[in-house]
Amino acid sequence: MKFFIDTANLAQIKEAQELGILDGVTTNPSLMAKEGIKGIDAIKKHYVDICNIVDGDVSAEVISTDLAGMIKEGEEFAALHPQIVVKVPMIPEGIKAIKYFTGKGIRTNCTLVFSAGQALLAAKAGASYVSPFIGRLDDVSTDGLGLIEDIRLIYDNYGFDTEILAASVRHPMHIIECAKIGADVITGPLSAITALAKHPLTDTGLATFLADAKKFA
Ligand code: E4P
Repeated sequence: MKFFIDTANLAQIKEAQELGILDGVTTNPSLMAKEGIKGIDAIKKHYVDICNIVDGDVSAEVISTDLAGMIKEGEEFAALHPQIVVKVPMIPEGIKAIKYFTGKGIRTNCTLVFSAGQALLAAKAGASYVSPFIGRLDDVSTDGLGLIEDIRLIYDNYGFDTEILAASVRHPMHIIECAKIGADVITGPLSAITALAKHPLTDTGLATFLADAKKFA
């Protein structure tokens, strides 16, 4: 199972990289705006900066919604660095763009996926990753993890290579349940990943061991 961090914040990306368990980064226009990255040149430089911190895949999202625009943006992003994966929204023009990029050997992440049917289309177009947003589904009283189960079943039925990237992960239980279902990747905030390490019995156990060790020092 791969762990991606969902942020454009370089300090957090470095912190996650230093943990030694980071496999990649996802970004989106909202996360770039949050970091104050404005203008296409600054955006491209930021993607390269991220690629230079992490070893794995870095999703760069197109903002055009027409095929020609998505192709232009995606080809420019893909040329920036071999680690770049072009992130394309699940809209009809996006499906065409994914099919085009697949034919050109450019890897893609199909984003804003909220149903099994959308995930099926992404796989048929040849997407490298599909990003179902589980947290946002939970937010509207719909079972996000149930969607991951459905996509896993469908992809396994037909042997699709598209990796299931469970996105909009909000907390450690999302990660554990995704691991049980067999999602290929999760992406979320660093806090959800580091929360996996926490357990009160670990803390009290360590405190006791350290106190006892002093008795023999
Ligand atoms: C996916 O790639 C998105 O960037 C992301 O996971 C969305 O998460 P959010 O619902 O917490 O904004």
